[in-house]
Amino acid sequence: MTTSHTPRAVADPTVRIPTTPTIEAPTAQAPTRQALGAAARAALRAPSVFNTQPWRWLVGPGPVLTLRADTNRHLVTTDPDGRLLLISCGAALHHARVALAAAGHAAEVVRLPDPTDPDLLATITVTGRRDPTPADAALAAAIPRRRTDRRAFGDEPVPADTLRRLRAAVEAQGTSLHEVRIDQMPMLSVVTAEAARAELADPAYRAELARWTNRPPGSRDGVPAASAVPQAPRRVQVRDHAVGGTPGLPVGAGFDLGATYAVLFGRADGARDWLAAGEALSALLLTAVAHGLATAPLSDPIELDWPRRLMRDLLAGVGEPYLVVRLGIPLGDEPPPPVPRRDPADVIEYLT
Ligand SMILES: Cc1cc2nc3c(=O)[nH]c(=O)nc-3n(C[C@H](O)[C@H](O)[C@H](O)COP(=O)(O)O)c2cc1C
Repeated sequence: MTTSHTPRAVADPTVRIPTTPTIEAPTAQAPTRQALGAAARAALRAPSVFNTQPWRWLVGPGPVLTLRADTNRHLVTTDPDGRLLLISCGAALHHARVALAAAGHAAEVVRLPDPTDPDLLATITVTGRRDPTPADAALAAAIPRRRTDRRAFGDEPVPADTLRRLRAAVEAQGTSLHEVRIDQMPMLSVVTAEAARAELADPAYRAELARWTNRPPGSRDGVPAASAVPQAPRRVQVRDHAVGGTPGLPVGAGFDLGATYAVLFGRADGARDWLAAGEALSALLLTAVAHGLATAPLSDPIELDWPRRLMRDLLAGVGEPYLVVRLGIPLGDEPPPPVPRRDPADVIEYLT
């Protein structure tokens, strides 16, 4: 039997073995830098309130991806506390984590690392390689497929096993999920309708909504009328994104009778909780899409103080409500149209 030998490095500190040039920490190697850029680009697909995409990414120096809030995109009337801005950024953070995991990168995340810099939301440091799991691949594959679907869902209920997985996905991100019970549906329905009515009575809200639903041609943010539906009788009304205009999608034949309405909630109501809620929202939506569900976030009942108090009451005091999500079996095979995203060059900066 013949054996082949490859030369082995001898553990002798005096022997200098020629190697490829050492790359000094914290400079990221090119593949890691590419993966960080790719993760930031994947995160552009994350859902955000009014499709504001209120974040910026910095790639490097070193194997680090930094997430910052873009407060120029803060909806000061609709979202005075910045809750929905941070939920949106948390969703982008989770999208980036999913993209890195699916590309085989192990990463450590530090959230809100600097109390003196509240816009510095998170750093993601790639620490090495890991084998992606089938679940990582499934979530990453759901990123380009996920869309907010404002059309009505059908009568078929969401399977109980899928709901269990959705709850587990949310809890794994440190947030909780309450499935609104049938006896609580009238409360959700009335609070949402009254909250929407109160907001529409406010000229400042109407102006903000108009600004983000009537973007100039070629704009790559905001909610286009193409993804809006007409107001129609249904279990819980969805926000009118085409006030005075023509919505691009028919609402469809259903009334959402099989839909599950779920409330993301947690113990406290601060920046750290909202960022985590956004990560949980992304985990919830991507898991739902991976299981064939259609999804739509719904924040009208959370935006003003008094509806949020009523939603806290609906939760029977177990926590602070962050966002409602409608989940259901889509009625047709045709997905809603994708809505635009900002130019990566405007959102992602490469530092050396
Ligand atoms: C925090 C948050 C709040 C949202 N609130 C609503 C809402 O009240 N009604 C609605 O139809 N969509 C809502 N959305 C969905 C966004 O409008 C949607 O994500 C955005 O327009 C991008 O479209 P896409 O999800 O299809 O990619 C919300 C999304 C987020 C992240």
